[in-house]
Order: sequence, then C-alpha cells, then structure tokens
Amino acid sequence: MTEKALPAEPASETALRRAVFDAVRKFHEFRFASAPFVPGVTPIPPSGKVFDAEELVLLADSGLDFWLTAGRYAQEFEKALGRRLGLPHVLLTNSGSSANLLAVSVLTAQELGDRRLKPGDEVISTAASFPTTINPIIQNGAVPVLVDVEVPGYNALPEQIERALSPKTKAIILAHTLGNPFDLKAVLEIAQKRDLWVIEDCCDALGSLYEGKQVSTFGDLGTYSFYPAHHITMGEGGAVVTRNGRLNKLLESFRDWGRDCWCAPGKDDTCGKRFQWQLGDLPCGYDHKYTYSHLGYNLKVTEMQAAIGVAQLNKLDGFVASRRRNFDALKAGLQAYERFLILPEPMLNSQPSWFGFLLSVRPGAPFKREDLTAFLENRRIGTRLLFAGNITRQPYFKEAHYRAVGKLENSDRVMRDTFWIGLYPGISSEMIAFVLDTFHEFFRSR
Ligand SMILES: Cc1ncc(COP(=O)(O)O)c(C=O)c1O
Repeated sequence: MTEKALPAEPASETALRRAVFDAVRKFHEFRFASAPFVPGVTPIPPSGKVFDAEELVLLADSGLDFWLTAGRYAQEFEKALGRRLGLPHVLLTNSGSSANLLAVSVLTAQELGDRRLKPGDEVISTAASFPTTINPIIQNGAVPVLVDVEVPGYNALPEQIERALSPKTKAIILAHTLGNPFDLKAVLEIAQKRDLWVIEDCCDALGSLYEGKQVSTFGDLGTYSFYPAHHITMGEGGAVVTRNGRLNKLLESFRDWGRDCWCAPGKDDTCGKRFQWQLGDLPCGYDHKYTYSHLGYNLKVTEMQAAIGVAQLNKLDGFVASRRRNFDALKAGLQAYERFLILPEPMLNSQPSWFGFLLSVRPGAPFKREDLTAFLENRRIGTRLLFAGNITRQPYFKEAHYRAVGKLENSDRVMRDTFWIGLYPGISSEMIAFVLDTFHEFFRSR
C-alpha cells in the first residue's frame, strides 16, 4: 500500500509571515555575520548602525503590510518613545533636520499671538553647531544670533546668551553638543524671565540625562535624529517631542501639509463634521481634509522606517550603557596626554549619552590636529570634526543675515583644533585598546 501525501496545510497569513521571518533570520545570519577584528585593517568608524535580525524581521513585516506611509509601527514607536521620555506627544518626521524645521516653523503660527515668531525676530543659537540647527531660523525669515561655546563642554555659556538678548529675541535653540547637555537650568531661567521659547536639539543626545531627567523634557520642544550615525536609527528619521498639547496640534498641522484636519493616514471624519466647517474664505462645508490653516510641509516618516525604529528602541538601554562604557575607557586611557589634549567634560549634574569622544589639541602642542587625525586615519580609526566648526566661516553663510555675539573665538578654535572619535556600541573593548595603543604610538614619537 502506498502512503498518501498529507494534504497541504491551508495557508494562513500568520503562517506565511512566519515563513518569511524565518527566511529573513537565516538571511541575516548569512549576510551580516561579524568578522573578527584585525587591528589596523578593520575600520573603526566614528559612528554606525548596530542591529540584529529583529530589525530585518520588523522591516519585512511592515513591507508585507504594504501600508507604506506612517501606520501601526509609527504609532507604536511614538508611544514607546513617549513612555521612555515621560512625554505625552511624540511626532515622527523623516529626519532630524526636518524635526528642527518643524519645531522652529510651528513658532510662526498665528495662534501663538504675541509670542509668535515673525520675520526679523531673533533666535539665539551657537556658532559651533550643525547647520540644520540654525537653518530653520533663516528659512522662517528670522535672524540667528550666534554665541560662542566653551571648551571642554562645547556648549553655550549662559552669560553669552544673556549678552545675545534683544527686544526682538523670541526663542533659543541649542543642541546638547555630542550628547553633553547644555546648562538647562540657566537657559530655562533666562527663557522664563522673558517668555522665550526653548527648543532642545537632542539629535545627538538620545538617552542623556540632566538632573536625572531625560533631555528634551525641559524645553518647549525637543528634536531627535535617527540617521544611521545616531543613537538609534531608522535609516532616515527624526522626531519632535513636547508636553504642550497646543504646540502638538500645530506640529501635526505643519508636518502634514499645513492641513486643518487631524485624521490619521487612511482615516476620514475624525472630527465628525468633515463637511460642516467654514474656514478662511472657503464656502461653508468645504472638505475639512483639504482645508489648510498653516504654511505646511510634508515631513512624515514611512512605516518601514518606523518598524526599524521599534526594533532599535528596544535596544536603547544597552546602546547607552556601551556608549558610556567606551567613553570612560577612552577618557581613562587618554588622561596621560592631557598636556597635549583637552579631554571632554560632562556638564555638571548630567549623565551624557555620548555621541562621540571630543578632543581638542591644546594651544602650543608640538603638533597640529591634522597630524593626529592623519595618524589615526592611517590606522583605520575614523575621525570627524565638530560639524560645521564656526558656521559663520562656511561658504553658504556668507549670504546669511545673522548677528554674532563677540568674536566667536572658541568656535574658531573648535574649527581649528577639535575633532572626535567613535564610541558607538559597535566599538568593542578590543577596538578601544587598539585606539589607545595608537595614541600611545603617536605620542611616543613626539
Ligand atoms: C545636532 C544635530 N542636529 C540636527 C541634525 C540633523 O539630523 P538628520 O541628519 O537626521 O537630518 C544633526 C545630524 O547629525 C545633528 O548632529
């Protein structure tokens, strides 16, 4: 008697998805197996993405949904990040630059009355910064007022911010430089006295604590970046966070084309009177879905990006711990060269979630920054500058209308003498040991 083949199990969506995920896990094992570290041959990049099969599985899951625009994963990420930060409102965007653009743009909304940011008003920031911290000020017709930074914290000094104030000042936007919180207490005091908006650019500071609380929870608005170099990644991605419900409503509108309607993607008539509004000079009953109350953008994230973010956020605690561990090891190992190098100092009462390890060559050292960075790069240790250096020296800034406070001498110094090396979670203790050996080798020859 011949054995009869069992009838094939009826395909269910869950079973089919499971089969795809199993294949994805095998693919991850095959494609992304880690190679052993070879000193001087294996690159030690300043930053990078760290992931396992879970990111690929969730990416595949969102792909199979084929919802594409922000959906269930975007909602899950926004809720999870909000829980971590203790904030009610998190809005995903398609980059950290978009998050900054959105955060500054909402301040122009007419609903904000006297506190509204108008063309010609001033916004204080630092000269040693990333361009898209400052650009949204100019893009909104306002004037950046740039202050210098201090070394070795690389943040603005409160007395410089006091000097920058004028009757036209409406807001302060500052980044927590490379994860090191700026003096939030002093900055908030200045802002509160004058009713100024505070935007914390936390693009390089996810997980940093100030007085035991997450950065981004102090100012009116906080922004994050999820570019691959950052603490967690979505490829491209960012977020604006706030505890202010009124600002949140404006953020949603400015992010989503400037629309008056607040329906989630794919939903209709959340307000229950979609065809009963009369706004602007539109005829009564004009579709609320196509009614625009602000000069908006489309800065939304896709579902695939958000799915990767969900997997990454689950790993954040481990990531922050390894960044801190690598920082401590580099600092302890480089203390011997403090006569040549200025080592980074965390802000008082803070626990930074460092983005990179910042170093400045001391004035009078018998070598230039480029001698040291070339030596490191030759041994495949990646180096980076502190972004734009003194931004007023950048080619595009020649056309910018801005005001500088003082001579920005430290920003010039940062441009000339400062650089950073990696400490991201992909850097193992073996790699840190090789980085330190390379510094020893460099200094032996001095
Ligand atoms: C301080 C700061 N703000 C904003 C950004 C922009 O983020 P994104 O690259 O996601 O646009 C960066 C990028 O690294 C940054 O370092």
